[in-house]
Amino acid sequence: MTWALVIGGILLVAGLLYWQLVVAEGTYLGPRVVAFLYDLVAPTYDEIKQYDLVYEQWFLGLPLAQALETVPAPLVLDVGTGTGRLPRALLFQPAFQGRVVGLDLSRRMLAEAARRLRPYGGQVALIWQDAQTLPFPDDTFDAVTCLEVLEFTPRPRAVLKELVRVLRPGGVLLVSNRIGRDARFLPGRAFPRPVLERVLASLPLEEVQIRPWQEDYDLVWALKQGEPRGGGVRPLVEILRCPVCQHLPLLEEGRAYTCEGCGRRYPIAEDGVIELATTASGFLERIVRQER
Ligand SMILES: C[S@@+](CC[C@H](N)C(=O)[O-])C[C@H]1O[C@@H](n2cnc3c(N)ncnc32)[C@H](O)[C@@H]1O
Repeated sequence: MTWALVIGGILLVAGLLYWQLVVAEGTYLGPRVVAFLYDLVAPTYDEIKQYDLVYEQWFLGLPLAQALETVPAPLVLDVGTGTGRLPRALLFQPAFQGRVVGLDLSRRMLAEAARRLRPYGGQVALIWQDAQTLPFPDDTFDAVTCLEVLEFTPRPRAVLKELVRVLRPGGVLLVSNRIGRDARFLPGRAFPRPVLERVLASLPLEEVQIRPWQEDYDLVWALKQGEPRGGGVRPLVEILRCPVCQHLPLLEEGRAYTCEGCGRRYPIAEDGVIELATTASGFLERIVRQER
């Protein structure tokens, strides 16, 4: 009887850990845990995912480039960019002559993105920051994308609202929503289809389309309501604001941005990543740097 209780207890704890750390990828334990877990898998992430170039172009690069074809130099924000999947798919398109800003809370995923996106040089900027506070003014980007990320944030509705806030009127929103078997184990994170439809209807969006994408995800395409205005490539210094006090602009001084509002200093790391986050994971990255 005692053994049965012990084994039952061990199985319960193992099941809970599996759910929290593997299925939910730390989402109920907070953004720092999520970022830490992504820091751990970053070097092997692309090997695990095995992206198919043709599939990526067909579902992401080509349709997004086409949706932006009337904008001469579009400015795109990819939230939770990871190893730079969306920037790579879009920048591969010869028709795309714009710039992509990739933002993520895992510093090591960004380090991988920086390495993989090096051939695109000035067409990419990478920012270490939490998606819950996007460091940009309203109506800034021609397109805002967020793939396989929302379910790992503590308040996916609030993040969705934040994505729409920084999208300019007439701009393109492209986000994924988790579906399939595991979505049942992500209550409050993945949206069941009717809830997703209600959430999208509550935002200033039009021409909303929900399409099947991967086994575990649907893709949402939508436009932000309103007379098209804003957007277009601009120097980062014109659109980057302090994530703490919201002051805009930040001053670029050597290898850092400084906030005149609160005095904070945000370094530009050797790999080009702008480090706005100060309290997230990142300690693995610091260890790696010390070892170099
Ligand atoms: C499954 S990966 C997807 C990466 C990329 N979008 C792709 O499709 O390959 C999820 C990414 O979201 C990032 N992420 C999770 N929570 C975040 C948050 N609160 N703020 C910013 N990024 C976050 C993780 O660090 C990770 O890189």
